[in-house]
Amino acid sequence: MTKNSQQERNWWKEGVIYQIYPRSFKDTSGNGVGDLQGIIQKLDYIESLGVTMVWLNPIYESPNDDNGYDISDYRAIMKEFGTMADFDELLQGLHKRNIKLVMDVVVNHSSDEHQWFQQSRSSRDNPYRDYYHWWPAEKGKPNHRWSFFDENSDAWKYDKQTDAYYLHYFSQKQPDLNWENSKVRQEVYDIMKFWADKGVDGFRLDAFQYVSKDITFPPFPEGYDINIPNVIKYHGMGPHIHTYLKEMYEQVLSKYDVFAVSEGVGSTLEDAHNLVDEDRKELQMAYHFEATDMVTTLEKCTLAQFKESFTKWDRSFAEKGWISIYLSNHDQSRFVNRYGSDKPAFKDYSAKMLNTFILSMRGTPYTYYGDELGMTNIGFTKIEQYKDIAAINGYKKAATDGEDLDLHLKNLNLLSRDNGRTPMQWDDTNNAGFSSETPWLPVHENHTTVNVANQQNDHNSVLNHFRKMVALRKDNLLLVYGEYEIIQEEHPTIYAYSRTLDDEQMKILLNFSELTSKINLSNLVQIKEVLINNYNELLIDKNTITLQPYQAVVLKF
Ligand code: NOJ
Repeated sequence: MTKNSQQERNWWKEGVIYQIYPRSFKDTSGNGVGDLQGIIQKLDYIESLGVTMVWLNPIYESPNDDNGYDISDYRAIMKEFGTMADFDELLQGLHKRNIKLVMDVVVNHSSDEHQWFQQSRSSRDNPYRDYYHWWPAEKGKPNHRWSFFDENSDAWKYDKQTDAYYLHYFSQKQPDLNWENSKVRQEVYDIMKFWADKGVDGFRLDAFQYVSKDITFPPFPEGYDINIPNVIKYHGMGPHIHTYLKEMYEQVLSKYDVFAVSEGVGSTLEDAHNLVDEDRKELQMAYHFEATDMVTTLEKCTLAQFKESFTKWDRSFAEKGWISIYLSNHDQSRFVNRYGSDKPAFKDYSAKMLNTFILSMRGTPYTYYGDELGMTNIGFTKIEQYKDIAAINGYKKAATDGEDLDLHLKNLNLLSRDNGRTPMQWDDTNNAGFSSETPWLPVHENHTTVNVANQQNDHNSVLNHFRKMVALRKDNLLLVYGEYEIIQEEHPTIYAYSRTLDDEQMKILLNFSELTSKINLSNLVQIKEVLINNYNELLIDKNTITLQPYQAVVLKF
């Protein structure tokens, strides 16, 4: 399209996504759980951020074993969240503000309380039997498959009623759907059409890399070691995933002005391209886990690893295919704790710096609710405080395996998903303006200072920095499509890169450390404007820029 971009223009590339965890955004019914009317009440706030799309975590009927990722009715709204009339009002309210809506589609598995599974488990010859993966017990115990949330990591659960095992890659209440069955696929496309006909604009396909699997369930190869690439390789990205996606594209995606983003990209860059390149006619976007997976222990990750990962993905997707840029979501703890610092002196600077990063990279940026304020980890210390099935069952497994439980709790304290799910901090009142009643998960004690009311009118706040960055991105196609080039990759504390489109260039300099850091750049006299700066000053001396701890600047050349 221009000198330095081969990319076709699309609205979903040029947008900014705001992810809302409905359970934690705003409660209007007074049950301590967020709801759709709560989101409706906050539409003006959402609009004020400048974001162009909202992604909602699942809002369908669900027994909530995994907070809505276990769906018992794909065409009904979870009672705790409201009604279909509320949904229609929400969608209308968003569209009125030119904000698009992205729905979560969870179809690797359903809830065990879905009527399909109820039927399926009732007898071996039930017409719904093949909607799920069953292994008759007379064949012996099936070969091991790994489960993310099972307390023994065992994805096979014995069901007495028909003397057979069913497969569940996630919790026992999330049986995997059998995508080999064309009826299952048709059900999914019909569900997607139901929502697309209502007017939703996008779909986020949950755990999608797992829908196609080798259903002969062979033993793992000799020397098989359980790690993420292996989990994906031996549990998902099966032989038919592209057939399914082409079918979905033909039946649903190509018929509406919508896009679909896959959670997960397989285990290689090639896998990722095969999912999202335009000429494949499958998906439009995907997100990889490399950067978030880097922080899996208290050691966190090094800046060198971080830069290497983002640079590698950018290079690979410069001309073809499109990815998402994010550092947090409902499956992660707060980004300030993982990539910045929650020390009082650095918390706000690092939150602004990380938002500058997300909004100045190529790829569609995703901001998780609360990150625009710099919300931080609640940091539970006892297992009894957790609500997330992943934390609770993971702890049980660690106990069974004889792991060091103190260390396990320390890791959870930094990394648990509950850290990222605490109620949105609207104001400094008791429940942070989230609810009149005790919230389902406690509010962070720092809500007395980190809250919307406080930040709203402070032009130096994290919130207003976020708004400035969103506006800058929306005003500059360069930040969407411009070529990315890393500068001085070896620099130990600063992540610097340029973005170039036609004759325009911006340089983004981000100090990822608590240390005052210097970087030498040759053409500083050519700076036309300092577009973004999270400090009041910028020290430039001839060819040297000095950045304060977590300082972030965007310079126009
Ligand atoms: C990925 C979702 O992001 C996560 O929250 C959920 O627990 C699993 N898929 C299972 O649906």
